[in-house]
Amino acid sequence: MEQLTIRPLAYDDATIAALAELIVETVAHGGSVSFMHPFSMEDARAFWQSSLHAAGEGSRIVLGAFLDGALAGTLTLLLECPPNQPHRAELAKMMTAVTHRGKGIARALALEAEKLAKQHGKSLINLDTAEDEGAAGLYEKLGYIRAGLIPDYALKPHGGLTGTILYYKRI
Ligand SMILES: CC(C)(COP(=O)(O)OP(=O)(O)OC[C@H]1O[C@@H](n2cnc3c(N)ncnc32)[C@H](O)[C@@H]1OP(=O)(O)O)[C@@H](O)C(=O)NCCC(=O)NCCS
Repeated sequence: MEQLTIRPLAYDDATIAALAELIVETVAHGGSVSFMHPFSMEDARAFWQSSLHAAGEGSRIVLGAFLDGALAGTLTLLLECPPNQPHRAELAKMMTAVTHRGKGIARALALEAEKLAKQHGKSLINLDTAEDEGAAGLYEKLGYIRAGLIPDYALKPHGGLTGTILYYKRI
């Protein structure tokens, strides 16, 4: 049986390369994670370099899910909110490698992020997900409450507008 481990990621070239492959694949398969297809490996690496740099400064935690030692999923916990929202954190960039979907990796990542958010004194988590081909069902299973829908919010990776659904959870 494959062994799943989840841990915060630090800045190093191998980690950035693995994260870049994961996000390029996610976007190519229509995952709404802020980018358009084709998303180049160079731009993907630049994104993760910046994200892991921010993680190094403590403003976010980039979690990696590893199956038998290989990166199979990721989720970012954004800890830095405006001064009047010190109790809030945001989930972003949730993705599981296509071949490993349906194995509970996203659920495990979200639960670990919630645990870490609590440890950082957070009591409220929010996120948004695409209306078309997004992960609304996943978040609802995890107890997130639908706050509303903004129509025509973003382009899908292969074009065409989709709405975004806003969710929150008190932790
Ligand atoms: C959404 C995504 C992260 C789910 O990853 P995953 O590891 O396959 O999810 P899990 O196996 O942990 O699923 C946990 C539960 O949520 C359900 N679920 C997962 N994704 C779902 C979706 N898109 N819609 C509805 N339900 C979903 C699963 O069926 C499972 O239910 P169960 O516990 O009753 O069996 C993955 O499909 C993905 O990377 N998608 C592309 C990127 C994306 O859309 N990310 C979300 C950005 S907000």
